[in-house]
Amino acid sequence: MAVRELEIKEEFMEQFNENIPSDSINKKVCVFGQGFVGLPLTLSFAFRGCETIGVDVDEILVKQTNEGMTHHTEMFHDVTIKEVLNIELNNGRYKATTDGGEAVRNSNNIIVTVGIPIKEGEYIIDYLKSACETIGANLKKGDLVIIRSTVIPGTTEELCLPVLEEKSGMKAGEDFYLAYASERIAEGLAFDEFANMPTIVGAINEASLKRAIEVLSVVCKAEVIPATNIKAVETSKVFENVQRDVNIAMAQEFARFTEGLGIDIFEVVKLANTHKRVNLLTPGPGVGGYCIPNAYHYIQPKAAEMDVDMGILKLARAKNAELPAFIASKAEGLLCKMGKSLNGSRIAVLGLAMKDYSNDDRISPPIDICKILIEKGAEVRAFDPVVPTKYSFKVDSQEDALKDADIVMILAKQHEFNLECSDLKSFMSENPICMDTKAIIDNNKAIEAGFEYWRI
Ligand SMILES: NC(=O)c1ccc[n+]([C@@H]2O[C@H](COP(=O)([O-])OP(=O)(O)OC[C@H]3O[C@@H](n4cnc5c(N)ncnc54)[C@H](O)[C@@H]3O)[C@@H](O)[C@H]2O)c1
Repeated sequence: MAVRELEIKEEFMEQFNENIPSDSINKKVCVFGQGFVGLPLTLSFAFRGCETIGVDVDEILVKQTNEGMTHHTEMFHDVTIKEVLNIELNNGRYKATTDGGEAVRNSNNIIVTVGIPIKEGEYIIDYLKSACETIGANLKKGDLVIIRSTVIPGTTEELCLPVLEEKSGMKAGEDFYLAYASERIAEGLAFDEFANMPTIVGAINEASLKRAIEVLSVVCKAEVIPATNIKAVETSKVFENVQRDVNIAMAQEFARFTEGLGIDIFEVVKLANTHKRVNLLTPGPGVGGYCIPNAYHYIQPKAAEMDVDMGILKLARAKNAELPAFIASKAEGLLCKMGKSLNGSRIAVLGLAMKDYSNDDRISPPIDICKILIEKGAEVRAFDPVVPTKYSFKVDSQEDALKDADIVMILAKQHEFNLECSDLKSFMSENPICMDTKAIIDNNKAIEAGFEYWRI
């Protein structure tokens, strides 16, 4: 065995392996959805000794995963998800498949991480429903189903349960077990947070709760917290996300206020957060990713059904959705100040991910900002060494992005960027502008280097 593989094994044994399930019932786990959550979750079961199957409808993803390839950037200590994947493929504890039916027939525990996308404010339940149909049609007596997707409160009992019962011809709670556990990880920290963040679980009856806690405890070393009902867990998850949306909208307003006063929002937030009951967030170029922007749209349908007003949440979402347009108009204003116009200007964008150090560009504000700038006549060249998606405005190096640019716009941090002010400026046009939405560049150094500097 290669030295590196031995090192990884030792590291993982030390960190995780105390929870290996001793009985065969808890050992066979299949996970529907092999995306940002599903793949590291399945591997977390595999490296604790479970026999795992990862199910996905995306044939290319399944093929690549079985070949040991993944674009995910998850790490645990210095071990990459790709290394874990290859170890678990080689030892036969993990495989990916598009055949969900067979995976269910060969497992005792089925975990669902299939998402509910939002399109133009409307949720699309089809993927989750289809996963439940496949599971139901292949379920055996005594199997456990845990829904782990983030859902509209009520979904597990109002959609998943009837579909599972109808397709299986069995009764939930009597013939098979059903639970809901919220998924709370942040991308990039998945292995650590599956293990060390408390997991919250609700179930349709005591027997389901007991079985779910046993299985979840295989991966979760922190507390597995039982709730009295499923809706409480579904709702707490959506509230966790939506409170960040509201706090970020507030941080953006604070930033405009401090900008007016001529003081630095990041200093103000730091000062305010020295109060032990205050935890302000910092502003940025927008709110992205799968979780936070979708949260309001998961609450709204149920609120409308119950005739409950969600005015604050709605306003926060609308305000955050406006941020890319705000950044674009700020660029227009700064160019105007320098005697230039947005139409025909060159803009170098650094960072396309929806958050710092991520490869995820789903619902990514930087992408929206690029599109708005292009629509307004600017030539955008964006560089992100980690995001794999191809865009017409994406270039292969920081230098290509910066060449003759009028503005350098920093929209997401990546380790590979060289943010030395004189280096940045050396590639750019006369009177360059630096728009630093991440407060990553020293204000004085940027001005000394000859930049017109703007911080969000
Ligand atoms: N990404 C995060 O950081 C995060 C954090 C907490 C919770 N969540 C929640 O976890 C869930 C999954 O999120 P994600 O980021 O992993 O999404 P993702 O899009 O990366 O992965 C979902 C996967 O499900 C697959 N899929 C669709 N229909 C299927 C079906 N019928 N059977 C099997 N697979 C199917 C898709 O092809 C996709 O690969 C969502 O509900 C999300 O809100 C995500």
